[in-house]
Amino acid sequence: MNAIPSELTRFYTFILFLTVLTHPIAASQELLKGFTATPDSSVTSFQPLLSDSVGNYSLGFVRVNRAQLALAVIHVPSKEQVWVAGQGVLARWSSRTSLSFNGSLVISDPHTGVFWSSNTNGDRVRLSDTSNLLIESASDSGGGGSILWESFNFPDNTLMENQNFTSAMTLVSSNGLYSMKLGPDFIGFYARFAGNSDPGLLYFQHNPMEAKARIMNGAGPIRVVLSPNGFLGMYQNGTAPVDVQPFSSFQQVGTGNRRVRLEPDGNLIGYYWARSSWLIDFKQVSDPCDLPSSCGPYGLCQRGKGCSCLDNRKSYTSGRCVTRETRISGDDLCRKKFNVLRRIGVELPNKEIMNYTIMNSFEKCENACHEKCTCWGAVYSNSSGFCYTIDYPIQTLVEVLDDTKMGYFKVLEGAGKDNTTTGLWVGLGLLCGLILLILGAGGVVLYKKESRGVKGYVDEDGVKSGVGPYKNLGSASFKSIELSGR
Ligand SMILES: *[C@@H]1O[C@H](CO)[C@@H](O)[C@H](O)[C@H]1NC(C)=O
Ligand SMILES: *[C@@H]1O[C@H](CO)[C@@H](O)[C@H](O)[C@H]1NC(C)=O
Ligand SMILES: *[C@@H]1O[C@H](CO)[C@@H](O)[C@H](O)[C@H]1NC(C)=O
Ligand SMILES: *[C@@H]1O[C@H](CO)[C@@H](O)[C@H](O)[C@H]1NC(C)=O
Ligand SMILES: *[C@@H]1O[C@H](CO)[C@@H](O)[C@H](O)[C@H]1NC(C)=O
Ligand SMILES: *[C@@H]1O[C@H](CO)[C@@H](O)[C@H](O)[C@H]1NC(C)=O
Repeated sequence: MNAIPSELTRFYTFILFLTVLTHPIAASQELLKGFTATPDSSVTSFQPLLSDSVGNYSLGFVRVNRAQLALAVIHVPSKEQVWVAGQGVLARWSSRTSLSFNGSLVISDPHTGVFWSSNTNGDRVRLSDTSNLLIESASDSGGGGSILWESFNFPDNTLMENQNFTSAMTLVSSNGLYSMKLGPDFIGFYARFAGNSDPGLLYFQHNPMEAKARIMNGAGPIRVVLSPNGFLGMYQNGTAPVDVQPFSSFQQVGTGNRRVRLEPDGNLIGYYWARSSWLIDFKQVSDPCDLPSSCGPYGLCQRGKGCSCLDNRKSYTSGRCVTRETRISGDDLCRKKFNVLRRIGVELPNKEIMNYTIMNSFEKCENACHEKCTCWGAVYSNSSGFCYTIDYPIQTLVEVLDDTKMGYFKVLEGAGKDNTTTGLWVGLGLLCGLILLILGAGGVVLYKKESRGVKGYVDEDGVKSGVGPYKNLGSASFKSIELSGR
């Protein structure tokens, strides 16, 4: 008589096991009031919760830095993240964290309370075929309900087709350094190096061509839209664009195949989905030397050649010019010891939009910076007398074959000398290696025990790029290089 309950138990265990197995893969196409989900400890990268009708996009939990959680929409075939709640609000990847829908989509845990909320009172949540997360009210007459909230109004670093980018919105790169905002009649790109106040340093500005329509004072704000026909259009209040930036795949057929993203290097890049991969078909800034930090701090960008260092004695082989990034704000500069570095034949990448004062010698320009506690350097043109002072930690300068252009740069003492600390780092590295090896061995044993076919359905790298501050600084741009090289 004992055999039957045991058989039953086994059967139920089996069903439970199946449910656990299929749970991370099966995502519904609609969330209703009362829905709640918690992160699954066995998921390593992405746990889907809601899918669009075709299966191109999915809303779910993304695991960040192993222990943290972001709520994001990803493009399923490529694992690229196209949206994240609260521009990257992070909760803990723990069974106490939950996503619930009670009219509002809410991420909360009992300790910290609410991390993020859509602050709505809707009846259902769904994901459109172009990745727009929608909270809708139920309709009385059986038709489609009205949209109360949409993720397209809260972009992160990506714009999708037909998504309106307005002056109320900001795109922020995944490393938090760069942002894109609309001015009254231009698209502005801003950098936030230490010392820059909000919205940051304007490093690039796109002004409309106004070929088909002109921007009129008082006719309302502008907006920017990625067209399914392959261009980035700027509109004011009419249907005729005030500006069109065509992509290389201009007028290529097929809707739902495009996105643009503000990359960790500060460039706005357009991508076209070519069935199995995203191809680059647009770059807002075409020459990398025109980006504010293409070779990193104290780097020198040589057009058509690549990167080297402002300091001749250093090689760029390690991929950077300073061993330790300076994150101190400019005001501290007078209280620190610094050395001076001078270089002939350099200019600022964005000098056209930078402010200058006219001085009659390089010495005067230098002195103006030397005495200023917020000034990190100065660039002077002996032919025009323009003196540009740099009020943020030195980034990348551009090499010019013109000896009348020269630069003066403050280098914090110790920022370049890594010899004394190298030994320590090597020692620490070895120690960490040993610990990782031990942990790794333990991990393999644990992994073998736990991975019962519940495989992470998105690999870690694919999702990682895109969430969290100061992470994978170069990875997204490396991806771009790979793609564009095809
Ligand atoms: C949903 O839950 C959140 C968090 O508990 C709460 O603040 C909010 O008032 C709730 N909304 C509705 C419509 O019940
Ligand atoms: C974008 O804005 C225009 C003009 O306000 C509007 O007609 C259009 O429906 C909007 N598109 C979306 C997807 O909201
Ligand atoms: C569009 O601009 C014109 C010209 O300034 C103005 O007369 C009109 O009211 C504007 N329409 C809207 C919807 O703002
Ligand atoms: C969306 O799915 C359809 C059907 O599977 C596919 O043809 C199309 O390429 C997908 N689009 C994207 C952007 O993934
Ligand atoms: C140049 O100076 C003006 C006036 O002080 C300021 O509004 C503007 O933002 C500055 N431009 C840059 C690129 O710093
Ligand atoms: C700068 O220009 C002045 C006169 O225009 C000239 O005398 C001086 O030698 C120049 N200095 C450099 C470093 O080129």
